[in-house]
Amino acid sequence: MDMSKMDKLVSLCKRRGFIFQSSEIYGGLNGFWDYGPLGVELKRNIKEAWWQDMVRNPPPGPDGQEISMVGVDCSIIMNPKVWVASGHVGEFADKMVDCNKCRRRFRADKVFLLRAPAVSGSEHITLAFEANSALEAGKLAQADIERLFNRRKISTNIPEVVTALDAPNDWKRPCPAEGCDGDLTEPRQFNLMFQTYVGAVQSQENIAYLRPETAQGIFVNFPNVLDSSRLKLPFGIAQIGKAFRNEINPRNFTFRSREFEQMEIEFFCHPSHSMSWYEYWRDLRKSWYTQLGIKSDRLRPREHAKEELAHYSIGTTDIEYLFPFSEEPQELEGVAHRGAYDLTQHATHSGKDMSYFDDEAWERDKATRSTNSFKEWLKTNPPKEQVDKYRFVPHVVEPSAGADRFTLAVLCEAFAEEEVNGEVRTVMKFHPRLAPIKAAVFPLVNKDGMPEIAQKIYRNLKPHFNVFYDDAGAVGRRYRRQDEAGTPYCLTVDGQTLHDQTVTIRNRDTLQQDRAAIKDLENVIRARMA
Ligand code: GAP
Repeated sequence: MDMSKMDKLVSLCKRRGFIFQSSEIYGGLNGFWDYGPLGVELKRNIKEAWWQDMVRNPPPGPDGQEISMVGVDCSIIMNPKVWVASGHVGEFADKMVDCNKCRRRFRADKVFLLRAPAVSGSEHITLAFEANSALEAGKLAQADIERLFNRRKISTNIPEVVTALDAPNDWKRPCPAEGCDGDLTEPRQFNLMFQTYVGAVQSQENIAYLRPETAQGIFVNFPNVLDSSRLKLPFGIAQIGKAFRNEINPRNFTFRSREFEQMEIEFFCHPSHSMSWYEYWRDLRKSWYTQLGIKSDRLRPREHAKEELAHYSIGTTDIEYLFPFSEEPQELEGVAHRGAYDLTQHATHSGKDMSYFDDEAWERDKATRSTNSFKEWLKTNPPKEQVDKYRFVPHVVEPSAGADRFTLAVLCEAFAEEEVNGEVRTVMKFHPRLAPIKAAVFPLVNKDGMPEIAQKIYRNLKPHFNVFYDDAGAVGRRYRRQDEAGTPYCLTVDGQTLHDQTVTIRNRDTLQQDRAAIKDLENVIRARMA
């Protein structure tokens, strides 16, 4: 855990315009964030890289086959029956505990209780910490345990550790807030969906929800997409969009927010192929992160244990990243095998047919039947396995990534402090594809026609890349400003430019400088970014 790195990053994000607290002038709003000029470019580049690599040009499938992918953009507020069918109205809840003194509310599975018996009698000492894991709670507790050892003489330094969710009834549940000596309530269900009303009357029947995931918009549009685009299984439908969750404890900068963006794919396939598609997406999604500069030793795929699986999932692997604020890797993306759960639920609740008819298989077998009409053939009472061969509810594999979470991971991964010529520079080492600004153009000095040449270069590159022009201050300071913005290349017009029409190209990471002809700059930058 490196909280000082996190503090420096949060401060850089504000100072340089990556991320601001939402409605900051009014004191902000917990769990809501705004992206500034650099942040919005970074996040757009992330979403565009995902759309390009997953939707427009996905790599070949497990057998080298081309993959069909299309996109949708669905409304945030949907018919509330969607959320009843999906299970969110009934089950999308966290167990929470409240403090009877400071009134703070905590997720019961994030409050860790450490209990150790006192030396004399049957008395126990219980410490409470809000943490991501037992390991983290143990570390937070170390100082307190040492203090208690000296003063109260507890008998062991290996206390029992459970979450407030799992604590037996006879355990005391102290509040984990610093300085508070209150006690926590028993865990209670708390639905995470934000509610609103549709229309002029704020009545029970007009309640609607802000979507807590983009996935359901895809499921309910499955028949529309199928009918309108004549796709054949297997194929994927993708969506990028906002999701809202009234998280009990938003924390760790943007990591757990109440409003965030998801990048989700629902990949529909034949049930007999679903496991190989699950493995395909799990591996592909992990490698996508490494291709965009996330070091593989900070990434970890973690298969969920059975008891941890969401209500819809047959199998899930989280792709986790080791953020500086945590001892253990935390979820960046979930790749879930959702089986036929969602389509079946929507078929049941809407009364609409959500199955797929495999007309290619039907045609292929036509010599084996007396009729070519499926309806007529059903009247002959064929065995269920035969019917299922042609008409079935597809299985779904869902790679579900958070655009804001990945943006935070990219910021954490990029942040570095390095000593250069006896001075510390802060540099954001973004992958060039994700960098908010691709190149900055400088005149070395503001005379001898250099600003005019530099401005011409800037204007010529602008239609192709996000470029930045800067002529203020010493060139060294301009380099430092671009290092903090994560700009991979700085192009400087200098004395030599006036003779041979070349500029220096300074590489952000190696600090090496070479020269390129002005006329070649567009191609040179494009080639170096690849
Ligand atoms: N459709 C499945 C689904 O929504 P999830 O694991 O709840 O699954 C998917 O969410 C991804 O959305 C997560 O891996 C994470 O990247 C992102 N995400 C979820 N809750 C978030 C929150 N409160 N703040 C930021 N990102 C969040």
